[in-house]
Amino acid sequence: MQIFLDTANVEEIRQGVAMGLVDGVTTNPSLVARENRKFRECIDEICSIVDGPVSAEVTATDYDGMVAEAREISSWAPNIVVKVPIVPEGLKAVRTLADEGIRTNVTLVFSVSQAVLAAKAGAYFVSPFIGRLDDIGQDGMDVLEEMVLAWDNYGFEAQILAASLRHAHHFKEAALIGADIATVPFKVLQQAFKHALTDSGLERFLSDWEKVKKLV
Ligand code: E4P
Repeated sequence: MQIFLDTANVEEIRQGVAMGLVDGVTTNPSLVARENRKFRECIDEICSIVDGPVSAEVTATDYDGMVAEAREISSWAPNIVVKVPIVPEGLKAVRTLADEGIRTNVTLVFSVSQAVLAAKAGAYFVSPFIGRLDDIGQDGMDVLEEMVLAWDNYGFEAQILAASLRHAHHFKEAALIGADIATVPFKVLQQAFKHALTDSGLERFLSDWEKVKKLV
């Protein structure tokens, strides 16, 4: 499973990359707004830190606008993947962009039907939003499981990018179900390291080592 960071914060991205654990980055307009930076400047800096795919989202809502914006955004760096929402105009744009060799990440996916349509349209990544389904009382992981089943049935080329993962248990479930990629906030990457027995075990090893050192 590849790990992407779901953030537009360059300090978090630098720390994740230094850990050697970050295969790519996903952003969205809300994450960029949180940084209070100009869109292009923010994406350029992220692309200078990360070699892997960096998702940057279009904000036009019509076919012509989305295609024009996607062509522009994808020209900024070779590792940009253009995020496009799963609406009819969006999938039409995805098909055009795929034919031009521009990679897309179809976003705001909440059902396996939407996911299949995105794969058929030529998406490079398809992003089911797990946590937002949990928020409305559904089990978001059901959609991921159904997608993996549909992908097994038909061998779609699009990679399944589990998104809207809010805690370490989501991260674990995504791995068990078989997402190609899990995109997580930096906080969740840190949580995934944590285990109380690791902390207490390390503490014991270090205090015992102090006794050994006295013998040298
Ligand atoms: C991923 O591509 C999305 O930007 C992100 O995972 C959404 O997460 P949220 O539902 O926590 O905002």
